[in-house]
Amino acid sequence: MPASDRTTRVLRVDAADPDRGALREAAEVIRGGGLVVFPTETVYGLGADATNEQAVQGIFAAKGRPSDNPLIVHVASPQDLAPLVAAVPPPAEALLERFWPGPLTLVLRSRGAVAPSVTAGLDTVGVRMPEHPVARLLIELAGVPIAAPSANRSGRPSPTKATHVIEDLLGRVDVIIDGGDTGVGLESTVLDLTQDPPEILRPGGVTLEALRAVIGSVVEHQPTAAAPDVAPRSPGMKYTHYAPKAMVIVVDGPDIEMVQKINSLAYEYAEEGNRVGVMATAENRGSYLAPVVLELGPRADLAKVAAALFGTLRSFDQHEVDIVLAEALPEVGIGVAIMNRLRKAAGGRVVRV
Ligand code: TXA
Ligand code: MG
Repeated sequence: MPASDRTTRVLRVDAADPDRGALREAAEVIRGGGLVVFPTETVYGLGADATNEQAVQGIFAAKGRPSDNPLIVHVASPQDLAPLVAAVPPPAEALLERFWPGPLTLVLRSRGAVAPSVTAGLDTVGVRMPEHPVARLLIELAGVPIAAPSANRSGRPSPTKATHVIEDLLGRVDVIIDGGDTGVGLESTVLDLTQDPPEILRPGGVTLEALRAVIGSVVEHQPTAAAPDVAPRSPGMKYTHYAPKAMVIVVDGPDIEMVQKINSLAYEYAEEGNRVGVMATAENRGSYLAPVVLELGPRADLAKVAAALFGTLRSFDQHEVDIVLAEALPEVGIGVAIMNRLRKAAGGRVVRV
């Protein structure tokens, strides 16, 4: 069926204590090969039965997602990992013991139990057990693993509220479960355990430091100018992502110089006839001279900034700005994932002072 020909039902549930009846209805849609958007603790996911090839192809069509970008498989319990993978090596055991349920996706050799499109032709599969009560109950009631990318149209910021999903996917999915705001606000950490040492393909909710504390050696995947990501191992990382309609420019440097540079760029772009927005932290928001200044939260509390990032990027669309000047944030802890998403939203445009 054409991607935009579905009638979308929106089901509101209490995130902490979801109504079983409503989730049973949504689980039936999954079992019948339909598409269900559900909240997780990271971002909203666009789910289908991971064992049903036709249903999985519906995900790619609804998102407008390139077919070479594999999907994460969501399970309801740690025991559900073994049937999906060739083997569960000791580091995987230790990691799921410590971080599941939670924002960590483990990439392991696939056993071929999921539909071919899920893994986009790779011999590996990414699996995660989400913590959100709605996600967990939905997967349990569906009785099948659920393949789910973030529930945005391809290229847009990932959704952290049901309203974001409605903006992007109304008429393109069968059910949207509205469970309120997601918690972390950035997607899971994707860790490739088929490499030695294990490699972070996408930084996310579980930090490098936290992973190292459990399994020792972990490396970060670094595309370089000499070896750009032409055949990336996490194929999703090569596409433009997280972008609002405006052009985003990140400004990086010591606080005072950064604020001054943002103000001088704001002036120059306005002179050229652009409507300028600034994405500011709480500490600096009073220092900007621009028609639109949106606040992310305090730089002293990066978890708050992470939770607000995607929603704030989307808000600039409502303010109809042409340019967004964004403060860089410190790359410590969750700050690594924040800057990863911000650089992608900016298509690599970073000004250093
Ligand atoms: O927090 C999350 O991970 C959210 C929620 C819904 O669970 N999901 C999510 O999915 O962010 P998506 O499709 O937007 O991002 C999945 C990322 C992509 O970069 C993809 O390339 C990578 O994980 N990935 C999935 N399977 C992989 C595999 N077998 N090998 C390498 N990378 C993989
Ligand atoms: Mg995504």
